[in-house]
Amino acid sequence: MRRYLSKLIHGPVGFNPSNSFPLNCEMGSYCAARRTNRQASFSGNNEYATRAFATTSCASLSEDQPKDNPVSDMLVDSFGRLHTYLRISLTERCNLRCQYCMPADGVELTPSPQLLTKTEILRCANLFVSSGVNKIRLTGGEPTIRKDIEDICLELSNLKGLKTLSMTTNGIALARKLPKLKECGLNSVNISLDTLVPAKFEFMTRRKGHEKVMDAINASIDLGFNPVKVNCVVMRGFNDDEICDFVELTREKPIDIRFIEFMPFDGNVWNVKKLVPYSEMLDKVMKRFTSLKRVQDHPTDTAKNFTIDGHEGRVSFITSMTEHFCAGCNRLRLLADGNFKVCLFGPSEISLRDPLRRGAEDDELKEIIGAAVKRKKASHAGMFDIAKTANRPMIHIGG
Ligand code: GTP
Ligand code: 5AD
Ligand code: SF4
Repeated sequence: MRRYLSKLIHGPVGFNPSNSFPLNCEMGSYCAARRTNRQASFSGNNEYATRAFATTSCASLSEDQPKDNPVSDMLVDSFGRLHTYLRISLTERCNLRCQYCMPADGVELTPSPQLLTKTEILRCANLFVSSGVNKIRLTGGEPTIRKDIEDICLELSNLKGLKTLSMTTNGIALARKLPKLKECGLNSVNISLDTLVPAKFEFMTRRKGHEKVMDAINASIDLGFNPVKVNCVVMRGFNDDEICDFVELTREKPIDIRFIEFMPFDGNVWNVKKLVPYSEMLDKVMKRFTSLKRVQDHPTDTAKNFTIDGHEGRVSFITSMTEHFCAGCNRLRLLADGNFKVCLFGPSEISLRDPLRRGAEDDELKEIIGAAVKRKKASHAGMFDIAKTANRPMIHIGG
């Protein structure tokens, strides 16, 4: 295990950061920017690979405007992006201690009275959904450790206009809780799993539990969730040798295995040498699975999606660092302490809890939300700047 740790901290030599690419995105129109992003590729050795797979998935704003739950101006930013997807972090606590997500000595927890109650979460969610949000993802920390998780799911799933109620979870407690959660309206799950080797799992998460996560993936499949998205953060020297083993899982199972580029957050000791770029991951998969084919993504997808002939599942790449997808961003975040965050990598946050607790009416809250959305930047600042900018640790944001 010491070997993994050393590699993680120091990284290998030979990765050339000058292969890194400009990340600024000229946002002319939604459509043009989207095409620019999709066609830009990480100009490493595998340029051919990424070019060959580039698609021009592109939708116009009018096509995107849902007919049944129209999006209010509050959710439209100054670049014309419609924010119909809200990620709600239900807790800052977690039953794992993943190295890429939180510092070794833990994080400072917000005192409980300052966290949103179920009633406050529902009040905010109702406001967002009635303004046009149609998808909510529950995150954490680890959302399943929240005691009232079933009630929250039930009440959220009853909100008129909400189409997708999803959760991103580490899977530790999921197999047991999923049947009830499904009954309460949860209709999609993303499960984090970074290694197929139990000892490596224990090293990375600083806890045991590999088998429980595998059980959670199988339970999700058995309960009919399809696809079951499996999130794998790829880190050089830790799990980059397992990429094809993960892809192998998609042969028989309806799993969407999503390889995620390692991103910098406060306290996670990010280093460019640990980042395995999309082009390199793709190259590995292509060499072994020669029928790999790019499929049309939705313009708001974080993932670039692929199929392999004869495989039940899918393979995807989340390329936040080397090919960002900010032009199609439709996401907003409500954190467990009630702060509202318009960009995963943007440090700016504004409290909804404070006005809520001093009795603000919906109109006042909508004004605060709308103003924050209008201040949202076109794209993140690029991985080197992100790494230098103070943000929260990932465990507080929930991805
Ligand atoms: P779907 O809703 O199923 O598309 O999942 P998702 O990819 O939006 O969410 P998930 O929680 O599974 O996150 C997978 C990876 O995508 C994590 O590493 C997230 O941090 C990253 N991610 C999620 N949302 C964003 C985003 O808005 N911007 C960026 N850059 N990365 C994101
Ligand atoms: N880089 C990329 N992805 C991360 N996640 C957590 N920390 C990082 C990071 N530093 C992933 C988790 C989870 C999702 C919410 O974000 O694995 O699947
Ligand atoms: Fe959206 Fe910010 Fe993520 Fe870009 S970095 S996709 S703007 S949340």
